[in-house]
Amino acid sequence: MLSLSGRIAGRVAATTAALALAATAVVLDSQASSGVPDAPRPAAATSVADTTQPSTATITIQPATFGGRFTPRNQELAPGGTLTVVNTTAFTHTFTSVAVGNDGRPLFNVRIPAGTTRTIPVAGLSDGVYSYYCAIHPGMTGTLTIGSGGPVVSAPKFRQPLVQPPRLHGQHIRIVMRRAKVRVFPHGPRTPMLTFGGTFPGPTIVRRTGEDTKVTFVNRLPRRYGAVTIHQHAGHQQSRYDGQPASFLIRHGKKRTYDYPLTDASKPLPAALRFYHDHRMDKTARNNWLGLQGMFLTTDPREKRLGLPHGRYDIPLAITDRSFGKHNRLRNPFKHMAHMPNMNAAPGMETVGDRVLVNGRFAPYQRVRPGLYRLQILNSSLFSSYDFALSDGRPFRQIGTGSGLLPHPVVRQDILLGPAQRADVVVDFRGLRHKNVMLLSIPRTDGSTDGTGTRTAALMQFRVRGQAAPKARVPLRLARIQHYKVPRRVSKTWRFGLSKGRHGSYWSINGKRYNPKRVDHRVRLGSTERWKLVNTSHFTHYVHLHEELWRTLERDGRRPPPWERGYEDTWKLDPGESVEVAARFTDFTGDFMIHCHMLDHEDDGMMATFKVVRRR
Ligand code: C2O
Ligand code: CU
Repeated sequence: MLSLSGRIAGRVAATTAALALAATAVVLDSQASSGVPDAPRPAAATSVADTTQPSTATITIQPATFGGRFTPRNQELAPGGTLTVVNTTAFTHTFTSVAVGNDGRPLFNVRIPAGTTRTIPVAGLSDGVYSYYCAIHPGMTGTLTIGSGGPVVSAPKFRQPLVQPPRLHGQHIRIVMRRAKVRVFPHGPRTPMLTFGGTFPGPTIVRRTGEDTKVTFVNRLPRRYGAVTIHQHAGHQQSRYDGQPASFLIRHGKKRTYDYPLTDASKPLPAALRFYHDHRMDKTARNNWLGLQGMFLTTDPREKRLGLPHGRYDIPLAITDRSFGKHNRLRNPFKHMAHMPNMNAAPGMETVGDRVLVNGRFAPYQRVRPGLYRLQILNSSLFSSYDFALSDGRPFRQIGTGSGLLPHPVVRQDILLGPAQRADVVVDFRGLRHKNVMLLSIPRTDGSTDGTGTRTAALMQFRVRGQAAPKARVPLRLARIQHYKVPRRVSKTWRFGLSKGRHGSYWSINGKRYNPKRVDHRVRLGSTERWKLVNTSHFTHYVHLHEELWRTLERDGRRPPPWERGYEDTWKLDPGESVEVAARFTDFTGDFMIHCHMLDHEDDGMMATFKVVRRR
């Protein structure tokens, strides 16, 4: 048996739950003062240090049910000040920052044995809101605000160009899964991973929506990884081609052809950035971590008239985190977990990497021209969420979700995306020639104090150079969302929680752990249903519904925010939150999944099956 601390180290996750934090609202303008070397300083940016902040402060760890409590939890400190932490409990705790530096390590991480006092090395930190937690008791969290409190982002050096995975356009595509060495870092050896077709992420499948597409996946992975199963996330396909976790598997040495019609009720599916990934029962987190992910981009020629940026001005970005050891080798936090399937995902032990990659590369840059660009952003992380923002404070115009265009564009200063969520945005680089702009992830700004926090990192850099990009625009009307009659009555409520079993707790839906033989709800083909998704746990979940074009009817009893008024397939559910969604069940009968897309939670049992049937 591994010790608790062994498991934490094994999972590299120094940062997880961790991320569950009070995100204080941040003003992007003050960011110029946050030590981001490349951030152009907006003219109006002022960062006057708050003179009322103390130059010395003390946080006491007091006994509490779950190991201890930081008091006060939220502390202010003048820049250059001294912070002392006193541990009055009978346990060891740590005082660890959520934010990581260029080396991928926490900005501060001090072990404080029972009954001792330690000084935290914060004197060199720039202005910012630093979320911290105890790595031994990840439920213990707080924030330290230094100076004006702009978001803390420490930027790495951007030394390699962004790459796009190879693109496959054919009507019948063949992808061989095999172990291969891929380039993640600009220097040093390449990194062995499990791949689709030899790259990470795998090749981007690019197809016109509405055109039937067959993909043959061949399993030439080393035998020890066993059978796999592939899911086109947010696709609409026969049950047998949907990536069933425990059936229609692709065994070692075998292949399977999946048929994706890319239509819904004979109409083309809305064009969007979706993705494909392994969905094997109990192994999804491991297989995705090791590399079995790729983008699936559909295009719609009828969108031409909208005048959106297209071609090389339309850039897909897959954001995901991994950890690496010596010689750029991918760490494998799952190695030691094999015999403990039921202990995969205690809260705070999910799989988090210390490096955030964009299209498989660490800290890339992309040359862009002054003009409009469309960025289709996918969060393909196992657990991490990001609150995307641009370093000079300019907003995004969000034009779509990952399931199609929104009815109208929405101007957003920052965009929160949890695992598997996507956002389709337009960025305006005009007036920035010879400047650099970074894509950042900043602390959540939506005021949530108990939801899982976001990474704090500079992810990539745009270098604005050269001639103006061709004219493009963002029209005020984008897509028509089909409005059909939705029943008033909720026909199924799904509760996402933590349940207690004989061997400890497990993530569950309606109190049950996933069992591929059990059908949890039946739906008649052709009907429209209203479902309610409720989070009854003290932890954020990102809930994904397979198969249909889902719409969000309500969030917490109110009309959903404008960016949730298109089609959607994955919803953020903070503790206590609920959403009501609806879909028409079209075309296909059979088993489909509903699950948390934090993949450790999914593997731990937070998954269920709904079955579409001809007759109820
Ligand atoms: Cu992207 Cu059921 O998963
Ligand atoms: Cu979850």
